[in-house]
Amino acid sequence: MLAGGPSYTGGVSRGPFLTPDVAVVGGGPIGLAIAWRCAAHGLRVVVHDPAPGSGASHVAAGMLAPVAEAYFGEHELTALLTESAARWPAFAAELTEATGADIGYRTEGTLMVGLTADDLAEARRLWAYQQGLGLPVTPLRPSQLRDREPALAVRVRGGAFAATDHQVDPRRLVPALRLAAERAGATLVPEPVRTPADVSAGVTVVAAGCGSAALTGLPVRPVKGQVLRLRAPDGGPPGFRHVIRGYADGEHVYLVPREDGEVVVGATVEERSDLAVGAGSVLRLLRAAIDLLPELAEYELVEAIAGLRPGTPDNAPILGPLPGRPDVLVATGHHRHGIVLTPVTADLIVDLVTGTTADPIGDPFRPERFAADAGPGEGFGTSGDATRPAQ
Ligand code: GLY
Repeated sequence: MLAGGPSYTGGVSRGPFLTPDVAVVGGGPIGLAIAWRCAAHGLRVVVHDPAPGSGASHVAAGMLAPVAEAYFGEHELTALLTESAARWPAFAAELTEATGADIGYRTEGTLMVGLTADDLAEARRLWAYQQGLGLPVTPLRPSQLRDREPALAVRVRGGAFAATDHQVDPRRLVPALRLAAERAGATLVPEPVRTPADVSAGVTVVAAGCGSAALTGLPVRPVKGQVLRLRAPDGGPPGFRHVIRGYADGEHVYLVPREDGEVVVGATVEERSDLAVGAGSVLRLLRAAIDLLPELAEYELVEAIAGLRPGTPDNAPILGPLPGRPDVLVATGHHRHGIVLTPVTADLIVDLVTGTTADPIGDPFRPERFAADAGPGEGFGTSGDATRPAQ
């Protein structure tokens, strides 16, 4: 167990001290949702983060896309995405009820489109795979596409509709989750956690995105994404309502419209760990975006930003107890899917914290699948002895 905390045997036992029951390391959407849910269970919760919401979620577009993000060979991840997306309506309603906040949750669905014949051929292969999994993908002819979204370029050759792929605004979501967690009784601590000695609690949840690697020894790597934010002219809303996921002359781009006139254009996927915004990346994103939706050329470019997704060797999240440390739970490695996976991740981790029977949908994502890959470090994973206090 951690120094000073009550013993932990797969469910928190409340001690007589003021030591928290749960310390969450990381105040992004995952950590804050876990904190909210744990606090709502009556547990004493602290969240450690010097700048909550300043990581990957600050850059993220907020697509809730179990269909469009279903890729070849990722059946178990697709099942998790689908389950979490199905929990989003209730999660969003509960969060709005708890806080009164508008989190920008929208359900118009997603149009997946191909600009050229080659783009459409590539996209159709993926859509056929997704349909083969039973996912709701409805092919649309160009005329049907333009009936739904007249602003699409006349060059767009075809597309498909994913009615269940929705969106939320992460920059509204994070403050709402923070408010919900604090109203439920959680406390935010602005000091960073660099070593296990910085935390004292019955159970520690590491939800620190790319920072989780140093704390756990698990193989979490940064995957850079560059994103643009545009703004519609004259203070009006964008001239389209669906999320658009496009293939445009070999570039993959997504366009996410917000009620307030913002359009998020993303994103690069780069095996790099810097946060520089490259002129060439901006050019490629804008060219692809404007090829699909010509009116975007008239929008203001208000932001160009890079973030780091927490990737893992199989690009799926890591959820569950750290090997040898049942008092340390990990909720990281969400890669492209942190926002959509927030509800199911919170539910799975809270089940583990409270000793509730774990939902088997989380089984494929346990940390032990990477036990052989765990690197050396100063973190929670290095003691290998759950009974030894952290130093
Ligand atoms: N989920 C979209 C991205 O990571 O770019």
